[in-house]
Amino acid sequence: MRNIRKSEVWSLLNAKYVYWQKKRVLVKSLQAWLKNRLENEIGNPNQILEIGCGKGHTLKQFSKIFRNFTFVGIDNKALKRNKHYNERLQLLKADILNMPFENSSFDILLSMKVFHYIGYEDKERERALIECWKILNEGGRFYMAECFLNQNYPKNKETDSNNRDLIKLAEFRKMAENIGFKFIKLQFLGVCPVNECNVSFYGLSFERLSKLKKR
Ligand SMILES: C[S@@+](CC[C@H](N)C(=O)[O-])C[C@H]1O[C@@H](n2cnc3c(N)ncnc32)[C@H](O)[C@@H]1O
Repeated sequence: MRNIRKSEVWSLLNAKYVYWQKKRVLVKSLQAWLKNRLENEIGNPNQILEIGCGKGHTLKQFSKIFRNFTFVGIDNKALKRNKHYNERLQLLKADILNMPFENSSFDILLSMKVFHYIGYEDKERERALIECWKILNEGGRFYMAECFLNQNYPKNKETDSNNRDLIKLAEFRKMAENIGFKFIKLQFLGVCPVNECNVSFYGLSFERLSKLKKR
């Protein structure tokens, strides 16, 4: 095996550093957008759920800022067990496709980089969205920060490195509207930290309408 030169090691380390820096900036931008949505809530929401919350880093921050709100996070893999931090924050090991809540339990639903993980099997994204509709109150808001396939993608590159289907923005929006969400707003949040990656990050705001159109 040939010797690796010092300059090659430095160049690899530098590429890793640049990647982590870009990722940190992107995550901050996604969190800032979600935080801003909560700050601007006029309806005085109190029950907030984050789906696919990972280890709960975002909710831990938000629960210190928004002291009148109650936060619940669920994740089926990143959490080993349920964690009850206090009366205003708990994290549950649970699946988005089978949420352990009564219908109409939450005023606000948050998700960050989750939907591209769901749905490389048949109709899972649609099933997840129907679950989201059910656990929200009528008029409740769904704020999702997610990566979507760029418009000018080459046709043979519609999956990510793990062969997951990337999400097409227009299709996703239509699917949500067909279930019973009203689309409110789209905001560009940033590009992917990996160079030449064919996704961009957007924030989407939806309102839960009164009628579930699909079951
Ligand atoms: C890219 S990570 C994002 C984690 C967190 N939202 C963040 O931004 O740091 C996607 C998360 O979604 C979770 N997830 C994917 N499918 C899920 C499902 N069906 N039910 C619950 N959690 C799910 C994964 O376990 C993972 O922690």
